[in-house]
Amino acid sequence: MNFTDNLLQWYNKNRRDLPWRNTTDPYIIWLSEIILQQTRVDQGMPYFYRFAEAYPTVTAFAAATEDEILKLWQGLGYYSRGRNMLKTARIVQEKFNGNFPHRYDDLIALKGIGEYTAAAISSFAANQAKAVVDGNVSRVIARYLGISEPINSTAGKKLFQQLANELLNQQLPAMHNQAMMEFGALQCRPKNPDCGICPVKAGCYAYQNNQVNQLPVKLKT
Ligand code: ADE
Repeated sequence: MNFTDNLLQWYNKNRRDLPWRNTTDPYIIWLSEIILQQTRVDQGMPYFYRFAEAYPTVTAFAAATEDEILKLWQGLGYYSRGRNMLKTARIVQEKFNGNFPHRYDDLIALKGIGEYTAAAISSFAANQAKAVVDGNVSRVIARYLGISEPINSTAGKKLFQQLANELLNQQLPAMHNQAMMEFGALQCRPKNPDCGICPVKAGCYAYQNNQVNQLPVKLKT
């Protein structure tokens, strides 16, 4: 069995039931992905519920004041995220009449939405074949394929995006992307991963070559 098949099988057994995985609403997915940037799932969860309840649509979000957004954001850190979200919401309201886009090309053209977020929304909301690459995904790829290019260098970012696109299951891009993130978060953890129970250890470069603690390589910034 190849990497992708093993991955999806693992995901079906080990996945957490997270609220943003039960929707294809691009606005709700956007909300969750921005909150989860630089924030752990358990920490971000209550904020996700609060925002989704206070602002069930991008139209409602766009109508909020900055003070209201920042008040709800309190405790989450990186407050520029909240401010930038309000800017993006207002652009979506104006340009798309409140219909949050789900196509990659429309998303990437929006100010405030980068490659990661555009890939996440377009794959989760519309099953578009775009691979998401975050820290979890890069770590899985670096270890499994034995890539020592730094994950955060300019060349490294390009390389990991390219490798992620090659690995992507074209039939099930949404599930594949969720599975990669979940696998990185729960199994292929940064420290002390339990490789003994890993379903892909037989094909894993890092495991086979005793490099699990050396990979991924990250440049100090
Ligand atoms: N972190 C960022 N995006 C995530 C997602 N969709 N599911 C779980 N953790 C995440």
